[in-house]
Amino acid sequence: MAIKFTLNGELREEVSVSPTLTALEFLRENAGLTGTKEGCAEGDCGACTIVMVRNGSGKLEAVNSCLLVVGQLDGAKVVTVEGLSEKGGDLESVQQAIVTEDGTQCGFCTPGFVMALHALRHSGETVTDEVIHDALAGNLCRCTGYRSIVDAARAACAGPEVSTIDDGPSDPQASGAYEAQNQLYFAPKTIEELIARRLEYPDAPLLSGGTDLGLLFSKQRQKFPVTIYTQNVDELRRIEENDRSITIGAAATYTDALPHIESAYPSFGVLIHRIGSRQIRNVGTIGGNIGNASPIGDTPPCLIALDSVLALRGPGGAREIALEDFFLDYRKTDLAKDEIIDSVRIPKLSKGQIFRTYKISKRYDQDISSVIGAFRLTLEDGMVTAARIAFGGMAAIPKRAAECEAALTGKPWSEETVRQAATAIGKDFSPLSDHRASAEYRLRVAENLFVRLFRDIEGADDVEVMAL
Ligand SMILES: Cc1cc2nc3c(=O)[nH]c(=O)nc-3n(C[C@H](O)[C@H](O)[C@H](O)COP(=O)(O)OP(=O)(O)OC[C@H]3O[C@@H](n4cnc5c(N)ncnc54)[C@H](O)[C@@H]3O)c2cc1C
Ligand code: FES
Ligand code: FES
Repeated sequence: MAIKFTLNGELREEVSVSPTLTALEFLRENAGLTGTKEGCAEGDCGACTIVMVRNGSGKLEAVNSCLLVVGQLDGAKVVTVEGLSEKGGDLESVQQAIVTEDGTQCGFCTPGFVMALHALRHSGETVTDEVIHDALAGNLCRCTGYRSIVDAARAACAGPEVSTIDDGPSDPQASGAYEAQNQLYFAPKTIEELIARRLEYPDAPLLSGGTDLGLLFSKQRQKFPVTIYTQNVDELRRIEENDRSITIGAAATYTDALPHIESAYPSFGVLIHRIGSRQIRNVGTIGGNIGNASPIGDTPPCLIALDSVLALRGPGGAREIALEDFFLDYRKTDLAKDEIIDSVRIPKLSKGQIFRTYKISKRYDQDISSVIGAFRLTLEDGMVTAARIAFGGMAAIPKRAAECEAALTGKPWSEETVRQAATAIGKDFSPLSDHRASAEYRLRVAENLFVRLFRDIEGADDVEVMAL
């Protein structure tokens, strides 16, 4: 079967390209579209930004083509910088604004900025300066400085809101299975088919957004004989909400989950805005963050503090496991070889419960945590009646701080209490030193987060908008 997608409005049917060739290499080498640039090849610089419409959503989303593989283009509409000005040869309004506002010098970064802003212009969002900065957080420019680029963004987005475009033929149908260059690529559409493929090829990587796995294709140039893609399974992209909980399918993107998360747990929403960039959040998933099992993944500590439950599915049926029990050791989880992560269920906060999370990293945007602390407290009549606290970056796995929890529970809610609880952190964790942070720094900063939590909750410190 072929990989079918539209590229700048024209249907492409690829039958011989490696399914794990990066989309960036495909565009530049195979399609001859060299306007899309390669900078870092790891999702950090935005030079490779393209726009895609996936799963018939009609939404234009900016993505990093260096981390996507050709298989992920199947069934999508793809727009590159070459596809913007075709009609009549005029510059598209973002391109024109970049020219008018002097938003480019060497120009290497410019196509990526244009594509990120093209997606913003069509997002239907009310474009404030904050939104512009959010939309540009994944694009680096070393020459121009951002003022003129932000001016261009304001000018280009000042017109009437444009929410979707019609860029040619209707969505091509994704194939489901593809073979080329001795590689098999499966993109099942049902959960049953996904589980059957998983059973058949237990060693094949499960590919979701590819913002972790993509590095193996992009940087390490690995060619897996079999790859199984999960994001074409509608059921895995589901997000369900009721009075008690939010259930997020393993293949739902951060972008789709964000509105639900930020309305139920605003502090968690602030954190999600800081995961990578829009390009990363448009494809990356909480399921992948859990599956990756990194000790510094941002969402697991929050999900553990919120007492979330993971649903796993395999040929024998479904089972549930508390997320805190899922992580066994460094990058080792309880997932069986024939299982997949189906979804995560996050309980809503009940009366008296407060949730806060703080990410400590070297940069505010686009950076991995050195330490992340997540706190769910129940406060009743000035007392802490329950505490669930989890940290990332402090151990080989994301883990609860049982001693700190015990030191808080049953105590009056006061700065003295939190300072005492903070001193228990050394009993809970013996962190490692690495290039991000020393063990001493990690312990110290984790301790300080308790004081920050108290002052934040008492309204003394506006942490929601404070850059770290
Ligand atoms: C530039 C950049 C910035 C980043 N910033 C952050 C950050 O700020 N915070 C952070 O935590 N992470 C960050 N990441 C890492 C990454 O974006 C996240 O871990 C993301 O959640 C991964 O999701 P994904 O869908 O892309 O996973 P993928 O890369 O597709 O998969 C990741 C792992 O999960 C497994 N997996 C995926 N789906 C399933 C499933 N259904 N069942 C079982 N296993 C599954 C895969 O096999 C793989 O092992 C960043 C990455 C990049 C490139
Ligand atoms: S080349 Fe830098 S983000 Fe893709
Ligand atoms: S204009 Fe040179 S990197 Fe942006």
